[in-house]
Amino acid sequence: MAMDKILVHGGATLQGSVRISGSKNSALPILAAALLTREPCIIHHVPDLSDINYMLQILSQLGAEVERASGTVTIKAENIKTHAPYDIVRKMRASVCVLGPLLGREKEATVALPGGCVIGDRPIDLHLKGFEALGAKVRVVGGDVKVFAAELRGTSISLRGKYGSTVLGTDNVMMAAVLAEGTTVIEAAAAEPEVVDLANFLNAMGARIEGAGTRRIIIEGVSELHGAEHEVIPDRIEAGTFLVAGAICGQGVTLRNVKPSHLESITERLKMAGFHLENTEKTITIKPNGGAKPLELTTEPYPGFPTDMQAQMCALLATSPGISTVTENIFPQRFMHLSEMKRMGADIKIEGSTAIIQGVEKLSAAPVMASDLRASAALVLAGLKAEGVTEINRVYHIDRGYEHIDEKLAELGARIERVKV
Ligand code: EPZ
Repeated sequence: MAMDKILVHGGATLQGSVRISGSKNSALPILAAALLTREPCIIHHVPDLSDINYMLQILSQLGAEVERASGTVTIKAENIKTHAPYDIVRKMRASVCVLGPLLGREKEATVALPGGCVIGDRPIDLHLKGFEALGAKVRVVGGDVKVFAAELRGTSISLRGKYGSTVLGTDNVMMAAVLAEGTTVIEAAAAEPEVVDLANFLNAMGARIEGAGTRRIIIEGVSELHGAEHEVIPDRIEAGTFLVAGAICGQGVTLRNVKPSHLESITERLKMAGFHLENTEKTITIKPNGGAKPLELTTEPYPGFPTDMQAQMCALLATSPGISTVTENIFPQRFMHLSEMKRMGADIKIEGSTAIIQGVEKLSAAPVMASDLRASAALVLAGLKAEGVTEINRVYHIDRGYEHIDEKLAELGARIERVKV
């Protein structure tokens, strides 16, 4: 499994419809939030991904009972431990989002400190600053970060960082503050739909959160939360990735089970790039519209264009006529996919955190290596239009965040196969 390859035979035309899965980045903190109550929580639409498996393993190690039946996960965290050890935490940075609920419920948590990752140095200073503002102490001992408090008290906290807001930081502080004494106000909060989804779940558990989806979130602490049932929102990044596939080589591709309002920054850019898009309440269709055009694109916190769609968009722009520029504002080092695309014949220069992409007529297939999950997806997309067979190695990156991407693309007509190694 771990060393599987994906082979993409370029030149196929995509057509038809594909069902979008539940959001990975929503599901991860929502599963962690189930630690906040002794009662069972039932979460639907949980995607079948290795990152989700890691989170469920962490929850089991912390003492929760976890059951999974296809897309539905039931978690009962009656008696829990407060230490998540390194061997499992190191596999996934999002493990840090157990800190907030453990601190909230048990008033202490110890989690191995996440290291750097391929998209750059990824600190958690803002998470810790938020916990400290609530009255917790923070210690780093033996590679673990320990947060503890006699009691948590509501206060006003700004989570503004050098690169804007923080998604998991906002989640973490929100999960600790729901059980704090008094009212917490988070300023410069992340407004991503995944933060709103978590707030909705917490409110279903009895929390009192207002303003999620805006820059200011207000949390009135309660003394206890109860079990709840929740359906995770559709994955807007998976959806965006299939839209780009439809742009690169589609003749009418429809996404089912999406929330079009979550994808506006993506659909707007695709319109500017020369495509025709149509929405219904739960679907989006993309069709060609007289030829692709270059774009100027900058990644920003929501509702701006997401960093998690930057690599995929580069795959499209690599063969759009004219010169495009793509500026990465959230993770300035997140450009590893570009050197692989260059090996496929793309004409790309990097200046600081901006990629300058001169569209070429075609890419040519090559064996390529993926560095993170969005980069891997982008290489699959590049392969759809490349001449020859593109071999994508280290497919485990894709399996972290895309549910059966090869099967879904094949349903749309792509010639793609997974080779088990
Ligand atoms: C979430 O990561 C997502 N992960 C990422 O998805 C996504 O790229 C990112 O948000 C940005 O949208 C999950 O939801 C599990 P941040 P997160 O804190 O919350 C800096 C994917 O491909 N920062 O919003 O960890 C940070 O370095 C991925 O699915 C601090 O400086 O990202 C970055 O420059 C990978 N201090 C910026 O803020 C902190 O304490 C935004 O990061 C925290 C973050």
